[in-house]
Amino acid sequence: MQKVTRSTIIDAPIDRVWAILRDFNSHDQWHDVVDASHIEGREQSDQVGCIRSFTLKDGNRIREQLLTLSDREYKSTYCIVEATVPLQRYVATVTLKPVTDGARTFWHWQSTFDTPPGMERELRDMVAQGVYEAGFENLRSHLRQGGDLRGGSQRSDGHAGMPTALPIPTRRVGLRRYGDASVLAGHDAQAPAPAAGEVRIRQRAIGVNFIDIYLRKGWILSMLPVSDAAPGVLGMEAAGTVIDVGSNARGLLPGDRVAYLGPTPGAYCTVRTVPADWVVRLPPAVEDETAAALLLKGLTADYLLRDLGAVGPGTRLLVHAAAGGVGLLLCSWARRIGAVVVGTVSSEAKARVAREHGCEHVIVTRDYQFAAAVQSACGGADVVVDGLGDAAREENLAALARRGHWISLGQASGMLAPLAPDALLGKSLTFSRPVVFDYIADYAQLTERVGRVWEALANGSIKAPLIERYPLEAAAQAHIRLESRQTIGPLILIA
Ligand SMILES: NC(=O)c1ccc[n+]([C@@H]2O[C@H](COP(=O)([O-])OP(=O)(O)OC[C@H]3O[C@@H](n4cnc5c(N)ncnc54)[C@H](OP(=O)(O)O)[C@@H]3O)[C@@H](O)[C@H]2O)c1
Repeated sequence: MQKVTRSTIIDAPIDRVWAILRDFNSHDQWHDVVDASHIEGREQSDQVGCIRSFTLKDGNRIREQLLTLSDREYKSTYCIVEATVPLQRYVATVTLKPVTDGARTFWHWQSTFDTPPGMERELRDMVAQGVYEAGFENLRSHLRQGGDLRGGSQRSDGHAGMPTALPIPTRRVGLRRYGDASVLAGHDAQAPAPAAGEVRIRQRAIGVNFIDIYLRKGWILSMLPVSDAAPGVLGMEAAGTVIDVGSNARGLLPGDRVAYLGPTPGAYCTVRTVPADWVVRLPPAVEDETAAALLLKGLTADYLLRDLGAVGPGTRLLVHAAAGGVGLLLCSWARRIGAVVVGTVSSEAKARVAREHGCEHVIVTRDYQFAAAVQSACGGADVVVDGLGDAAREENLAALARRGHWISLGQASGMLAPLAPDALLGKSLTFSRPVVFDYIADYAQLTERVGRVWEALANGSIKAPLIERYPLEAAAQAHIRLESRQTIGPLILIA
């Protein structure tokens, strides 16, 4: 019987370390040797008996079963059920203890196992160094990225609280019928206690997006049903502080500063309970207001430039509403990548700001006439990012270069009428109708994209947003402003 024992001190509070380690399916987020992991058969990842099935980056496959889990003792035991590595009768125990100064954690990891004859040393070294010692380092860097190692802690003790099963009062802004901004009105409600996989958030800042206007007008009925008894609540994203969490909450803890976005509206409120899968912790450098202003729009810019638009050096990119929330991010990030950025705006004031954000060729037009100017500026666009919709339809087709890609992002001017495939034939064009939520549908993608947005903010690829702020109860005013075509940059509501 072989025995491997390793221990270390982690410079972070025990609750933070345990929140990660008690989740039997968290290791693909922090341990570098693990490629992908899932829990078999819909069980919770802290359910004793559950099996995690994972692949290692070297191609090996392992199934492990959780045998014990004690939140009181900060201890878990697990064993290998099946593996392509020759570890036999492998049983491991993870134990944490608080270091006496309170903010550090002692982590003990040990296992016993058998090996085929002659492989004892090789497998002992693999477990000791490749799994345990590397794991210690990997968890440290995971915590460091989240600002959790000592000196970088971002917890705000003022809001840390014990989980409570009680609902908490919340103030929401919603609508009982579709219509103009006057349909928006505040009402009192309750935010339910978080169930498994959920967190309850005291919101500070809420992002306003153009989709909020489509929903308010009743253009996407399936996303926002409304009635007198159950007003529809708008809002796809917000930032704030975690009040309490259910089990399996992605390592989130009360007091964490977080931001979220998700495909179900409901963010226009003071307290909201949401799936932990939507939520990311905020680095210390990113304020709540900045996060609410940037999260959805920044992720949109990321998938548009990096994936869907495949924008690179020399790509001729046409950005409509170039001084808008998404528009300014696209201009500066695309310019940094080396694209030729052409933008449309409706005023000279907006043109100035778009230029300052890297838009090389700015076309000022209020009535969606831009194709000739695009052709003369760059010979046609390889990619058009179009949030305008119907009024710009024919001009978009005319502005595109041969084999150009029309990305229909939104419909600020009105819903795009159906497009016949043959409209694309003349220049071998392609047409896409994407939604941001499909580009962050799994948690690893969400965190990867979010990381890139904060990095872009830190390295100047995108500028700090020019934020226009309104109190939550004045959401109607924010809508009126956004629809007026007067705004530059993003709008947020302060809860
Ligand atoms: N599909 C997705 O994944 C996704 C994600 C985020 C955003 N979007 C879309 O991206 C676009 C930009 O969103 P945003 O939130 O950043 O808004 P925004 O660009 O800050 O505001 C919309 C802008 O659209 C322009 N516009 C043109 N005609 C308009 C009209 N008739 N009424 C109102 N505005 C008009 C205005 O700029 P000018 O006056 O300068 O023309 C206005 O400032 C929207 O279409 C939105 O739906 C889509």
